[in-house]
Amino acid sequence: MKNLHFGVDYYPEHWEKKRWETDAKLMQQMGIQMVRMAEFSWHKLQPEENIYDFEWLDQAIALLGNYGIRTIVGTPTAAPPAWLIQKHPEILPVDRDGRVRGFGGRHHDCQSNPIYREYIRKLVTKMAQHYGENPLVIGWQPDNELGNSHQDLCTCESCRQQFQKWLKKKYQTTDSLNKAWGTAFWSQEYNDFSEIPAPRITVTGENPSTMLDWKRFCSDLIIDFTEEQTQIIRKYAKNQFITHNYMGFANKVDYYKLGELLDFVSHDQYPGGFYLPETPHEKNHVLAATLDIVRSYKQQPFWIMEQQSGITGWEIMGRAPAPGQLSAWSLQSIAHGADAIVFFRWRTCAMGTEQYWHGILPHSGIPGRRYEELKELVLTMSPVMNHLAGSMPKPQVGIVFSFEQEYAFQIQPHHKDLSYTKQILKYYQALYQQNIPVDFVPEQGNFDKYKLLVAPLQYLMSPDLEQKYMDYVQNGGHLILTMRTGVKDRNNLCMTDQELPGKLRELAGIEVLDYDCLRDAHVQVLFQGQQFQADIWSDLMRLLPDTKVLANYASEFYTGEPCVTQHPYGQGICYYIGTQPGEDLMRELLTIICQTAEVTPLNPAIEDVEFMVRENENSQFLFVINHSNETKSYSTPELYKLLRGVQAGILAAYEVQILERTKNK
Ligand code: GAL
Repeated sequence: MKNLHFGVDYYPEHWEKKRWETDAKLMQQMGIQMVRMAEFSWHKLQPEENIYDFEWLDQAIALLGNYGIRTIVGTPTAAPPAWLIQKHPEILPVDRDGRVRGFGGRHHDCQSNPIYREYIRKLVTKMAQHYGENPLVIGWQPDNELGNSHQDLCTCESCRQQFQKWLKKKYQTTDSLNKAWGTAFWSQEYNDFSEIPAPRITVTGENPSTMLDWKRFCSDLIIDFTEEQTQIIRKYAKNQFITHNYMGFANKVDYYKLGELLDFVSHDQYPGGFYLPETPHEKNHVLAATLDIVRSYKQQPFWIMEQQSGITGWEIMGRAPAPGQLSAWSLQSIAHGADAIVFFRWRTCAMGTEQYWHGILPHSGIPGRRYEELKELVLTMSPVMNHLAGSMPKPQVGIVFSFEQEYAFQIQPHHKDLSYTKQILKYYQALYQQNIPVDFVPEQGNFDKYKLLVAPLQYLMSPDLEQKYMDYVQNGGHLILTMRTGVKDRNNLCMTDQELPGKLRELAGIEVLDYDCLRDAHVQVLFQGQQFQADIWSDLMRLLPDTKVLANYASEFYTGEPCVTQHPYGQGICYYIGTQPGEDLMRELLTIICQTAEVTPLNPAIEDVEFMVRENENSQFLFVINHSNETKSYSTPELYKLLRGVQAGILAAYEVQILERTKNK
């Protein structure tokens, strides 16, 4: 959306109407151009089965419109009202223990339930008819954070039947399903699709092939649920966009596929962490990676639909963002490709679960430190945002990210500390620390635009993907493959009849003959005469001709055997890393691999300072972000002029500078 860059999440229904105009004025004064509203207000919009009431929302939209503020309408399907649950309790979700989850939070719904879907069709149709041509409404957000809220999604009778239907479409016959799932093990053969359960908690371990299909089904169900809404909205709202608020690396739904339904992707960015005690304040590289994955889902600029605007917290609270930190986080989102920032939330709520999830305004409604800081940000950045239009980061390195690999490791993590996403983040961190920007790439994406492709844990393999990796390196690409590659087919059955990593032996120039799961242990690795630590796993391999050893194991019964290798193939190079390198080894390895691939860092590393570039056909925009509360300095690159900042090269605490270099035409 041209020239729309800053907004807030607004809940007028939580406050007296007489306050709305004050809010609109304050928003206008700080340069706010849009609000998102209504994504949880089903009861206010449909207080009873046959009564729809859009009057309050019409009034709010019109009043904000008088102050030049446009609206994004959320469909409220994440919060079905009590009257609906009372009438149709079968809408409530059933967890894997078989327990029905009750009314009283949100997302207390089964997304496959036909009755629920019928109610949604009616409500969304009414809303789309009502707002589809309202010029003050610019776009839509169906539901909210789809895939959130259900611990292990719904296993009710309706879901079971839908799962059976999904399987029948995929396998046609039970014979082929039995083969694909290896049901000969423990007498799990099915004679008829109707015998297949929605996987509840079992007495002992589960069938990994069943579980992989179940996770694929759950993802497809969310996509189908969303598509029903997007089709209705598109029918009546021809000139309004549709987006959805993603949650970074959340994995209940394949976000690449969900993105096909949307005009652009949005994301909720909470650097202060969430309300759960075990989720700490996020580290800077994790924040950056989260933004990069969101940009990568559609390979387009994205929006932040909820950007932290105060202390986060439900029952337990996070730290107060220091002066300048909220702005720095917003600018970090922009640096990684956000074209608009919508702050969550306008005013801290006086009631309900989120009383301590702080907004721009405090409970009092009186503008304070956060309002003044973000006002300065919005007013100064709005013109810069227009200038950034059409620009995107253009990384030289891609990291392959796949939801199916993530699912397969959720099902069988091998080691209590092995996580697919966490391992990906370890590779990312080493690149981030060197100021090397990264795209994430789906397995079916375009590999060729990257000088270096990092493909950790390519556990589920297919002949097509094998060929794609081989072609990429053949044509000059540099590729990193790792431990646990080529172990299984796409049905989650182990590959047989050849050594790991299967056909990719030719590419990697090694054969894995044995392995060691490093339970309660680390392994030492010798690299360039220095000892480093690695964890989780050791692949024990034999070298094929032409393969060079970069690092060896230096402990355990395999001391001296190869751990990291390098193999020339066609015009490129394939590296194989047989373990999970510790932070130091990872950094050393990636430094050398990037140098060989001629990947250029944006700047030498400076602790707590992040460098990122967006570019369009005219200019390169360099963002320099000080994540610390100390003054930092960097040497300003030649030919850049300062677009934002006080003194180029000197960063005050949490200051972000933006520099522009015009491209020679
Ligand atoms: C997001 C969600 C919002 C709000 C916020 C704070 O995940 O989309 O509705 O709940 O967290 O908890």
